[in-house]
Amino acid sequence: MADINVLVAFYSRSGVTEALANAVGEAAAKEGAEVRLRRAREFVGPDVMAKAAGWKESADAMNARYPAPTAEDAEWADAVIFGTPTRFGNVSAELKAYIDSLGGLWAQGRLNNKAGSVFCSTSTPHGGNEATLLTMYVPLAHLGFIIVPTGYVDPTVFSAGTPYGASSVSFNQAKPPSAEDLAVAHWQGRRVTMVARALKTAGMRA
Ligand SMILES: Cc1cc2nc3c(=O)[nH]c(=O)nc-3n(C[C@H](O)[C@H](O)[C@H](O)COP(=O)(O)O)c2cc1C
Repeated sequence: MADINVLVAFYSRSGVTEALANAVGEAAAKEGAEVRLRRAREFVGPDVMAKAAGWKESADAMNARYPAPTAEDAEWADAVIFGTPTRFGNVSAELKAYIDSLGGLWAQGRLNNKAGSVFCSTSTPHGGNEATLLTMYVPLAHLGFIIVPTGYVDPTVFSAGTPYGASSVSFNQAKPPSAEDLAVAHWQGRRVTMVARALKTAGMRA
């Protein structure tokens, strides 16, 4: 049994953020963690989804691969790494709904001193990746997480991503994450697992 549990809770409509989530999860597993990958669900009706070509098909395919995240997943985890496509420079409503569902755990202090981290994808280079990541730090602080950034700690971050978290630019979903983007996501999964282990070993966890 692994000594550290890592939850990668993400939303992705068309697979770009999903690819980053897989890279984060792979690296956490390689660092010795047990990993759960969970995709937040849509809450709009089929009429709205039908307006974007391929949305429903893509959601159905991903939902077959990943269960929806639950509060129990967050309680189980020593670290939670949240990933989202940007929505007007901010977190997607789908992932935010999951974050908001953690209010019960917040009220009991059950997330205190867990490691928390964020990653995202945007369509355009200045379309809000830093804004999305930094605004996602805000609910993590409220929830009691110790926020783990990527920093300029690993050389990969000098080539891609941001010091706040991994990111990729998809140019309207035409471009999957590059090898450099994925390398930052790997670094993030590794670093968060190491920090979660250190927090647990130091007796910081409730
Ligand atoms: C409603 C909506 C708002 C979006 N807002 C932005 C934005 O502010 N900046 C940006 O660069 N991309 C924006 N995008 C594009 C997606 O964030 C981007 O294509 C992302 O890579 C998709 O990731 P996914 O395949 O994981 O869903 C938006 C997309 C939608 C549907």
